[in-house]
Amino acid sequence: MSVEKTLSIIKPDAVKRDLTGKIIAMLEEKGLRVVAQKKILLSKEQAGSFYAVHRERPFFDELCEFMSSGPIVVQVLQGNSAIELNREIMGATNPEQAEAGTIRKVFALSMTENSAHGSDSPETAREEISFFFSGLEILQFCHPIRVSVNNTFLPFPLRNSLKTLLYKRCSCGSKSSSIFFAVLSSAIFIITCPSMGP
Ligand code: CMP
Repeated sequence: MSVEKTLSIIKPDAVKRDLTGKIIAMLEEKGLRVVAQKKILLSKEQAGSFYAVHRERPFFDELCEFMSSGPIVVQVLQGNSAIELNREIMGATNPEQAEAGTIRKVFALSMTENSAHGSDSPETAREEISFFFSGLEILQFCHPIRVSVNNTFLPFPLRNSLKTLLYKRCSCGSKSSSIFFAVLSSAIFIITCPSMGP
């Protein structure tokens, strides 16, 4: 399992219905982190250039019309196996075939107005991210790692210090941050464990 970045779009049908927050919550609940985000309005030409790979498909014109019909939220998501995970959370392209609880099953109106888009491979993710974002716009820093088991045992002030430290020090996905996190959390667990009682 490796840390990846993927492009996610919240499409006009969902933005129009004020579903942006709910969709982001579904992504975050499953462990994806937003490391870049903006709300934009595409022209039909820009939509066509983003979806150029579908230029010959019968639905291309309708798709470009729809994608330029209102604001969209474009975002870069980061997490373990982010590309596949995002696609799982979105569900099948056709909402009728999407699994229960997925974004498209819950919110999509049709195959075209299907609420969300996500890159389908590492190569597409790189291309799609650079279509919308410059390197400067993407956070090179991670959301605080969930300080799982140990964290629940830590006394409040210590927990906050640990979070602050992690905020300042971790650079997501790098080997050094994982080692730093592992050593630090183990050390704190060992130090605080005896004083916590049963
Ligand atoms: P998305 O994942 O954004 O990729 C291409 C989009 O084309 C797809 O979601 C749908 O919104 C739209 N689309 C419309 N009709 C079809 C179709 N028959 N097959 C695939 N995609 C379609």
